[in-house]
Amino acid sequence: MAVDLLLGLQWGDEGKGKIVDVLTQDYDIIARFQGGPNAGHTLEFDGIKHVLHTIPSGIFHKNAVNVVGNGVVIDPVIFKKELDALKKFNLDINSKLFISRKAHLILPTHRLLDAASEASKGKAKIGSTLKGIGPTYMDKTGRNGMRIGDLELSDWKEKYRSLANKHEAMINFYDVDIQYDLAELEADFFKAVEELKLLTFIDSEEYLYQAQKAGKKILAEGAQGSLLDIDFGTYPFVTSSNTTAAGACTGLGVAPNQIGAVKGIFKAYTTRVGSGPFPTELFDEDGETMARVGNEFGATTGRPRRCGWLDLVALKYAVRVNGVTELMMMKGDVLSGFNKLKICTAYHYKGEQIEHFPYNIEAENVTPVYSEMDGWKEDLTNMTSADQLPKALNEYIAFLEKELEVPIKIVSVGPDRTQTILK
Ligand code: IMP
Repeated sequence: MAVDLLLGLQWGDEGKGKIVDVLTQDYDIIARFQGGPNAGHTLEFDGIKHVLHTIPSGIFHKNAVNVVGNGVVIDPVIFKKELDALKKFNLDINSKLFISRKAHLILPTHRLLDAASEASKGKAKIGSTLKGIGPTYMDKTGRNGMRIGDLELSDWKEKYRSLANKHEAMINFYDVDIQYDLAELEADFFKAVEELKLLTFIDSEEYLYQAQKAGKKILAEGAQGSLLDIDFGTYPFVTSSNTTAAGACTGLGVAPNQIGAVKGIFKAYTTRVGSGPFPTELFDEDGETMARVGNEFGATTGRPRRCGWLDLVALKYAVRVNGVTELMMMKGDVLSGFNKLKICTAYHYKGEQIEHFPYNIEAENVTPVYSEMDGWKEDLTNMTSADQLPKALNEYIAFLEKELEVPIKIVSVGPDRTQTILK
C-alpha cells in the first residue's frame, strides 16, 4: 500500500490541518514529516476550534494512529501544552500518538538563539516564529543535536548541559540584548520532558514499514508550504526543513517508490506571514478585504498575514517540484463579492516576460503580469455540493486546472469540516 502525501503549495497556512482532519477517515495512520511548533494547524468541528502545532491533525479521529516522524523537531514545553489542551477530549493518547526516537529536541536555548539571531539581523530578519526551528535544525545537520531517543539514556541531562552551555556562549557572541532567565526556562523544560517520556517512543521508519506491509493506509502530513522549503523556497526567507515531497521520504524513512498520491493544497488567493518577497502582494482595499474576510492571522503567532492575488507562476513551480497528483483549493468563499479576480500568469523579470519561478523574486526584479476573470457574488459557505457552485467559480477552477494540468478534487468553502465540497 503506497503512502500518500499532503502538503502546502504556497507560503504555508493553506489549511492543511482542516484537510487532514477531513481525510483521516480514509487513513489508518497520519504521519507528520517535518517542521515543528512553528506550524499552526487549525481544525474546526462541532462548534470547536482547535489549533495543533506538532501533533498530527488526525488526532481527533477514533481509529487513526498519529506518528511524529524523525524529520520533525519537538519542543517538549509546547508539546505538553498541546497535550494539556487535548485532555478535555478524552483521547487515548498512548495508543494514538507515537513519536520517532530520531526526532530532534528543541531546547530552551535554541529558542533564545533564534531570538538572538533575528535581533542581530535588524531589518534583514527572516520574520521567524522564534520557536527555535533554525538553530535546532542547525544542530541536527551539524551533528550536535539531541534526539527523543536520548531521553531514554541515563546521561541525557549531561548531554543537555553541554549543548546548552555552548548555546549560551553563542548567544553572547551575537551581542544583542536578549533578556532571559535560563533557570526558569529549564525548570519548565525538565518538567515537560518528564511528561513527554510517558508517551510512546518508536523507531518510526520500522513501524511505518511494517504498517505499510500489513496494508495500512498512511497519509504523510507536511507543515509550512513549498515556498518556505529550505532548498526551493524564497531563501533565506524560508524555514529550515524540506517542506516539499522529498521531505516526506527523509522525514519518515519512506522510499520514493512507495509514494502514492501527492495531494497539494493551495488557497484561492495567496498569503504570507513573516518577511520575504511576495510578487502579488496587495496593499489596497482588495488585500484588506481578503485579510478581513479570510481572518488572516497566524495560528501560531497571531501576526497579520500579508495577502495578494493567486500567483500561478509560483503555484506551477510548487506543483512540479512536488509531483502533485491532485489539488485542493481552500478559502474559495473568501473571494465571493469581488467584481473581478486577478491571477498572476507570468512575471516581468529583468526586461523579459517569463513563466517560470526565477532565482530571485524580490520586488526590484519581478512585476506580476495578470489575467483577469469575472468574480461571483454568491455566499459559498452553506453550499454542500459541486453543482451549487457559481458559474464564475467553476470557470476560475477550470482555468487553474488547465494551467496546472492537475485536477482540483476538493473546494473548501469555510473552516468547518462540513464546509468541504468534493468534486
Ligand atoms: P521559522 O520556521 O519559525 O524560523 O520561520 C521562518 C519563516 O517561515 C518565517 O517567515 C515564518 O513566518 C514562516 N513560517 C514558519 N512556519 C510557518 C507556518 O506554519 N505557516 C506560515 N509561515 C510559517
